Formats: sequence, C-alpha cells, structure tokens
Amino acid sequence: MLRCNPLLGKRLHRFWQEVGFLRRFGVSADAARGIIPPVDDDIERILIPRERIARRVAELADEIGRTYSDSAAALTVVAILSGSVIFLADLMRQLPIRMKIGLITVSSYAGATTTSRGASILGELRVDVRGRHVLVVDDILDTGRTLRLVTAELRQREPVSVRTCVLLRKPAKVPPDVKADFVGFDVEDAFVVGYGLDYDDHYRNYPDIGILRPELYASA
Ligand code: IMP
Ligand code: MG
Repeated sequence: MLRCNPLLGKRLHRFWQEVGFLRRFGVSADAARGIIPPVDDDIERILIPRERIARRVAELADEIGRTYSDSAAALTVVAILSGSVIFLADLMRQLPIRMKIGLITVSSYAGATTTSRGASILGELRVDVRGRHVLVVDDILDTGRTLRLVTAELRQREPVSVRTCVLLRKPAKVPPDVKADFVGFDVEDAFVVGYGLDYDDHYRNYPDIGILRPELYASA
C-alpha cells in the first residue's frame, strides 16, 4: 500500500489551502508562487495611462469614420502583427463603416533587442485591396521602415488609396518621406511597452503604455 509521509501531506494540504485563498482574490497559482513575476516592476514610468488611450482611440475612430463615410469604394484595414492587435481590436469596434481586415506580419526586431534591423514581410500578403481604400494600422512609427515597406507593397495592388494610422509616433526619428495620416500620440524617443507593444514579445498585455526600465534591455 502507498503510504504518504505525514509531514509532506500536511505541507501539501497547507499549500493548496493558500492557493485556494489567493485564487479567490484573483491571484493565479503561478503568480502566488512567484513563477510569473508582475509586469509593473519592469515599468520605469507610465507614459500614457489606459483612460487617455481609450479617449484618443475613440477620437481616431471618429476621424477615420468621417474620412471614409462618403466614399463609394469599400475599406480594407491592414493591420501589422503583432504590435497592433490591441489597438486594432479597440479601434475597429468603434469604426461605424463597412470594412474588411487583413493581417500581415512584418519582422523588424529579432528577439531581445530594441533596435530595428530593417523590415521584411513574412509569408504571403493575402489581402483584398484592389479597387478598395486601404488603411494600414500599426502600433508605432519609429524609423519608418515598416510603413515604407508595407505601403509600397500595397500600392502595387491597385488600391483606390493607401492611408496609415499609428497609435504612437516618435517624431525625433521619423524620416521625411514617411507620413502617418492618423496619429494617436507623439512620444519621446524612449523604448515603450504595453497596449500591444513588446520587448522580446513580453509586456503586450500591460494595459497602459509605459517606459521599460533601460537596465532590462541594456545588455541586449
Ligand atoms: P519602424 O519600422 O522602425 O518604424 O518600427 C516599427 C516597429 O518597431 C513597430 O511596429 C514596433 O513593433 C517596433 N517598435 C519601434 N519602437 C518601439 C518601442 O518603443 N517599443 C516597442 N516596439 C517598438
Ligand atoms: Mg514589436
């Protein structure tokens, strides 16, 4: 017969009691045991709080809606993965117009780095844009490589128009030939995360936009 060490049994029982207690207060078992470190500790300061983001996204949806509402041609929103997902989800649900969406992946940062090493589109560009208006949506306009590449590709497919919308723009770095038609916020030239923006694919779930503590990426 299998016999359990009574001391171990007691410890296990106490552990499950603690986990159950913490869960009732919304703390997951992994977080309770310190396996998932909290994101807040890695943020130096909040740059744009969630309420301000929400207000600005509503204003952008209004501006974009007015731009396309009288046009005979239909709209395709082309969103750039993965950084734009949260912005896209919030924005598109407030666009009061008929539209399709297309998702494309552009790689500019490989892994744990904060420096763009040139942009390239991954996979086949399967978006319906011929004879339609196109609105490219991205999280941030930084060196402009991503938007330059994507808009050039899309223009070859005979759309009626190509416009661009970014939640953030770093004016200090944007070259003169790359323009965004709709901009949420101009921000300082610091590495920001949250609301879809990442560092090494982390922090996208942080609900505000914050400046990442530089010592976390200084060695990358
Ligand atoms: P660009 O091609 O240099 O304009 O950069 C655009 C892409 O770089 C964005 O889609 C982001 O994924 C990424 N990026 C640029 N700046 C930041 C930042 O401060 N935080 C997180 N991602 C950034
Ligand atoms: Mg990114």
